[in-house]
Formats: sequence, C-alpha cells, structure tokens
Amino acid sequence: MRTQVAIVGAGPAGLLLSHLLAADGVESVVVETRSRGYVESRVRAGILESSTVELLDSVGLGERLHREGDEHRGIYLQWPGERHHLDFVDLVGRSIWLYGQTEVTLDLGRAREAAGQQVVYGISDTAVHDVGTDHPSVTYTDAGGASVRLDADVVVGCDGSFGPSRGAVPERLRRTWERTYPYAWLGILADVAPSTDELIYAWHPDGFAMHSMRSASVSRLYLQVPPGEDVARWSDDRIWDELATRLGHGQDGWALTPGPITDKSVLPMRSFVMEPMRHGRLFLAGDAAHIVPPTGAKGLNLAVADVGMLAPALVALLKGDERLADSYSDDALRRVWRCTHFSWWMTTMLHTSGDPFDEQLQLSQLRWVTSSEAGAAGLAENYAGLPIGYRG
Ligand code: DHB
Repeated sequence: MRTQVAIVGAGPAGLLLSHLLAADGVESVVVETRSRGYVESRVRAGILESSTVELLDSVGLGERLHREGDEHRGIYLQWPGERHHLDFVDLVGRSIWLYGQTEVTLDLGRAREAAGQQVVYGISDTAVHDVGTDHPSVTYTDAGGASVRLDADVVVGCDGSFGPSRGAVPERLRRTWERTYPYAWLGILADVAPSTDELIYAWHPDGFAMHSMRSASVSRLYLQVPPGEDVARWSDDRIWDELATRLGHGQDGWALTPGPITDKSVLPMRSFVMEPMRHGRLFLAGDAAHIVPPTGAKGLNLAVADVGMLAPALVALLKGDERLADSYSDDALRRVWRCTHFSWWMTTMLHTSGDPFDEQLQLSQLRWVTSSEAGAAGLAENYAGLPIGYRG
C-alpha cells in the first residue's frame, strides 16, 4: 500500500489530521491498534478551548458541538467556606465549550467515513521504519492476520504514550522531561443532572474534588485519591459522601444531588514532554510527544493545536517547501510548555499533600487568583486557551 501521509493512531489527533490534510488535497491512511468501538467509547475529558472550537468550526466539524454542547463563561474555584466565579468572557473575551472528547472523536469518525477516508482498525505489531530517509514506511499485521507494508512520503505518530512512534526518534537525539504527581483521580460518570451550572474546582484539606458534566442529565465528577488506588475500595455511597464533603454540600444552601454511577476509573497524573517532535520524515502530535495531568483538561486541546500547526506544514512539505516542517517541533513545543506549566500549576495549587506550608501557599494563591483581576485574567487566558501557534 502507498499513501502520502501514514498516520499512526485514530484518536482525535490522527483523525483530525487526516481531515485537515484532505481539505488541502493530501491523501492519508490512518492505522489503529484498537477497534473503532473502543476508540469511540473511551471516557476522556470534556472541555474545548475557544481555539479548538474555532478550528473545528472552520473545517465543518462544529455542527453537533454547537447543537448538543454547552458554552460556559467560566469556572468556580472554591475552598472551605468560599466559592468564587471566574468569568473568562469578562476577563479575556473567550469562552469554553463542554463537549466530551468522546463526542469529538465520534464526529471525526463519521466525517472521515463520509469522505471515504481509509482508517484501518484492529492492527497489531505496528512498526515505523526508515524515517531518516525519503521513503519511510509503517508495517503491521492487519485484523485478518496478514502482514502489511504502508509506504508513505511522511509518517505521523498520533499514537499516544504507548505507541511505537515515539521510540522511532533515535535515543541519542531525544530529550525528555517528566514529573509524576503523588496523587491520582477517581473519576465517575453519573446519571444525574449536574448540581452546578459551570464547573467547580474545589480545594479541600481531604483532597481536591471537581464537579463537571456531560449533559443536562449526566454529571462527571472527580476526587483526588492516592496513586494506584483500587476503585473497589470506593463504594457509590463512599464516593458521594466524599464528594459532598469536599464540594461543600450545605455551604450557603448549595446541595450536591447524588445519582446512579455508571462508570468509575482511576486516572494517573503525570507531566511528560519529549523533544524533538520531528525526526526526518516522522512527526509526532498529541500524547505521543507530551502528557499533561488532567487538571484543566488540556490534553485534547494540545493535540488539536499540534495538528492545527502540523497540517499546513505537511501540505507545504509535500509541495517542496520545508520551512514550516523545519520549525514545527520548536513552534509546537513553545505552546506545549505553556500548557505543561498551566496544567502543573492548576494541579499543584489544588491538590493537597498534607504539608501545612504547602496548604498555606495554595490558599494564598487561590485568594489572589479569585480577588485580583490580574490573577484571574492569567488563569482565564490559559484556561480558555491560547491561540494555535502561540509562542509567548
Ligand atoms: C473535565 C476534566 C478535567 O480534567 C477538567 O479539568 C475539567 C473537566 C471533564 O472530564 O469534564
């Protein structure tokens, strides 16, 4: 098989890249180890930055998002006894949209299918070859057991932190940075109307808690738990009790309404950045090159921004102009590091470690962010999202 761009990974980064390339007449094949059903049902975060929404709108992918998603002006930040609303529209003129990554992936899958995009699911033994030459390739075993070789002009790794693409950048040229946090999140989905109009991020001495949502009848909530926590230790009653305490049930008349829990999982918290994001004819985008902890929901938005920069770079490269391709890694990493800092900052401001000095610093920072317009605007600018291509 032969194509112009071989894309490894059919998550939102890979599917969106194939969509953007097709809009400019560039052909691609997307290959994926998982099944389509798995990719389209995995539970992920639900916040879209304004630049993510603009990009999806500009390529005809925003219709269901505007119909079924929910535009939010800001978030609540709270700690025991106090809840403050930060209005991003007033502060920086930009809003955010609540629309699950699962829905974005579904919309992308349908749009690519309607356009006749070749997406090969259920492959195994994926390997990336000869990226230092002009004739790179991807080999794999297809779902029927046949060995396939996909030749391409360019290979793009959109295959997350466990995929093979990252490892195709030679070790001696690779640099990585990593931070593991001493806590994890227990996330639940519940069939109950949200008890809040916009997201609540809550600092509490017992640990962070957050109230998000997926629709008028589905809530998404999170609790800080020890790393590697076993979900079996968390009965539904224990989860709702702990959420009520940390989110301030009863505070100023606010009530958390519990409901049937339909999904429970533990999410690790890790920051990771790798450079370069390009080696020869191999380009990396999204989680293949960087991981953020979930606080602030930057993962999908970062992947969209990478791909938004990469698509025009590849279109130009295939026409013989290498300038954007040459600067892709540096350009993308500037924005990646900004979001890496923001995710780390939100995480360390809101999660308790039991250290009394840290707690006082966190509370001081929260008071400043919620009382100073400059402090609030800094959070709002980063949360609502910096432009794609932002360099700082
Ligand atoms: C969600 C997840 C996040 O990590 C976050 O910061 C906000 C919302 C969510 O799943 O809705």
